[in-house]
Amino acid sequence: MKRPIKILAIESSCDDTSAAVLYNRRVVANLIANQSVHANYGGVVPELASREHQKNIIPVVDACMKKANCELHDIDAVAFTQGPGLLGSLLVGANFAKGLSLALNKPLIAVNHMKAHILAHFIENNEYATPPAFPLLCLTVSGGHTQIVLVKGPFDMQIIGQTLDDAAGEAYDKIAKQLGLPYPGGPQIDKLAQQGMAKFEFSKSSIGNFDFSFSGLKTSVLYFLQKEMKKNDQFINENLADLCASVQLNIVDTLIQKLHSAAKELNIDRLALAGGVSANSYLRLRLTQLGEQEGLSTFIPRFEYCTDNAAMIGIVGYYAFLEKKFESIEVVPSARLPF
Ligand code: KG4
Ligand code: ZN
Repeated sequence: MKRPIKILAIESSCDDTSAAVLYNRRVVANLIANQSVHANYGGVVPELASREHQKNIIPVVDACMKKANCELHDIDAVAFTQGPGLLGSLLVGANFAKGLSLALNKPLIAVNHMKAHILAHFIENNEYATPPAFPLLCLTVSGGHTQIVLVKGPFDMQIIGQTLDDAAGEAYDKIAKQLGLPYPGGPQIDKLAQQGMAKFEFSKSSIGNFDFSFSGLKTSVLYFLQKEMKKNDQFINENLADLCASVQLNIVDTLIQKLHSAAKELNIDRLALAGGVSANSYLRLRLTQLGEQEGLSTFIPRFEYCTDNAAMIGIVGYYAFLEKKFESIEVVPSARLPF
């Protein structure tokens, strides 16, 4: 049997330090060290994130290699997240990857984090028997981005629409903060919403085409809470689950409606979700329902490949290896790496 291509991948764009080993499209190890230090600050503190990455990177890579039962000299290439993300965080992963590539004399592959979220669908360990065919329309929703992307190939992607202000995950996190929930607020709202009723109405973005805007929703929730808390200072506590369900319905309705209109306009019958917010239970349900109603194929990555992880960096590494898309040691990370 032909020897597989072995990629070691490193992801450090935000507050998770992750390493993965892939044999071709199959993930053999994918480890993540989460950083709990940020919980007390209501958001990621860049300086702390970078320091935590420095502490975590060697133990995480080491544990990952052991789990994969793989030796460093057996790796074919080292892939890392070049951006977008927090510069101090990116630098830790990039410098570590460069050092390894130099020491092992193996090619270096620089990966765009947002494209990696999308290519996570092509990891073999996902539930679907065969990966999605092209073209594919992907809704990428994370803490920093909200994009509808037309995917024609691993390295042929075009943004059709995107947020003009807050990202969907950012809206979740900021509204969660207004509700007094800890960071990251997305998963908290998701959990609480499951016990509530969407009985409160908040402003919906009325932007045309396939772009998004979530800052109006955030302000609408803030004013509503201020008004209600003046009348009853227990309002949030007494209505928490219903508030979460209402916010969740608003965000997910907007996301699904835009994705559906884009699919109709572009005549694409394969729809996918990517990014941290695609871990959201209601968004996953609504996409599945849309597919069933409209006869469209839908693809949602396994939960562990939705939020930030190195396996998705590794799958891009695999495709880049096939096309020999290697970088020199001079390559630098970029906080605002273009798509
Ligand atoms: O992709 P990701 O892990 O990191 C970035 O690249 O930004 O996304 C993180 C975002 C956060 O805003 C987090 O609140 C959100 O994903 N998130 C969720 C859920 N799980 C993570 N939002 C809603 N529901 C969830 N279950
Ligand atoms: Zn991400």
